[in-house]
Amino acid sequence: MKLNIAVLPGDGIGPEVIEQAVKVLKAIALEFNHSFNFKKASVGATAINEFGNPLPEQTLDLCKASDAILFGAIGHPKYDNDPSLEVRPEQGLLHLRKALGLFANVRPVKAYESTLDKSPLRRENIKGTDISIYRELTGGIYFGEKKLSEDGDLASDLCEYSRHEIERITHLAFKAAQSRQKKVTLVDKANVLESSRLWRKVVTEIGIQYPEITLNYLFVDNAAMQLILNPKQFDVILTENMFGDIISDEASVIGGSIGLLASASLGEKHALFEPIHGSFPEAINKGIANPIASILSAAMLLDHFQLNQEANHIREAVEKSLELNITTPDLNENNFDISTNQVGDFIEDFISNPEDSNVNFTNVSLGQSTII
Ligand code: IPM
Ligand code: MG
Repeated sequence: MKLNIAVLPGDGIGPEVIEQAVKVLKAIALEFNHSFNFKKASVGATAINEFGNPLPEQTLDLCKASDAILFGAIGHPKYDNDPSLEVRPEQGLLHLRKALGLFANVRPVKAYESTLDKSPLRRENIKGTDISIYRELTGGIYFGEKKLSEDGDLASDLCEYSRHEIERITHLAFKAAQSRQKKVTLVDKANVLESSRLWRKVVTEIGIQYPEITLNYLFVDNAAMQLILNPKQFDVILTENMFGDIISDEASVIGGSIGLLASASLGEKHALFEPIHGSFPEAINKGIANPIASILSAAMLLDHFQLNQEANHIREAVEKSLELNITTPDLNENNFDISTNQVGDFIEDFISNPEDSNVNFTNVSLGQSTII
């Protein structure tokens, strides 16, 4: 298959982790005889510095002309601590999502056998957890009208949803549940918010069209607690934009590190793949950023084009790296010797040579390997 992939490394650790994902995709192309062309473009704080715009026109044009987008991370502390700035890095990502119509954000959350003890949650509570979060991505409070009074003392953000916006992601969530555990949980705040009551109404109506799927409902405050208490009860979680943002970071605790969580942002015409983590500016160029979320986002990219065997091969390599403890310090507190790049190298190597890399790296966790 021939694919044109736009690569938007963005800010902070974005470039470091994206480099590993590209490396891995190149190995897949070689191994499975595909032709992937990568073209880079600027976004976020980096683009503000260069072009005065977090989403320069040429970046948007490249994304529109590409088959898929691989995205790194966005954000810079300089903007976080100065609310008066009108141009902000995050606008680049938000505009991109809106302009490309990326309304469905899919975030898989999995408890890997080999990272069960890295989570602060109890092993027996999280073992076997496998959740797919369907987060609405182009509506709600993120995109509603924003107001700031002239004296600067009153502000508001409108949370608005139309039936159409709810319907399209709801169908995707139910379809996903068909090939999973056949359960959808709608997370909302229908006891307080009018917009949540519309979600309940529309999702309930659509649920009738999927009689084989069990639909249940949780208020977001309770859902936040249930995710920690008993995450295994969930299969597909369907929710609006901001609740999805919050509970997906929370859910990453189950896997032991936010550095493991990938995502796909899907629309009618376009698709973007990005780790759910931020730009982690404290870690820039230290080689400690976990590239796995970015690499697993590349696997989701392959799944999107029905290259499932290829995607599974990446996942197998990732699981092997976790099993052998070839991980960055977020998952490996006693070992600062394995860098972002080396995790990428191992996964790349495993893809072209599963048997060999197995042998070469087996003793890494014991500090006995001289290979890396
Ligand atoms: C995410 C991020 C973004 C969001 C930020 C960077 C705008 O937190 O993708 O989860 O809030 O959607
Ligand atoms: Mg977030």
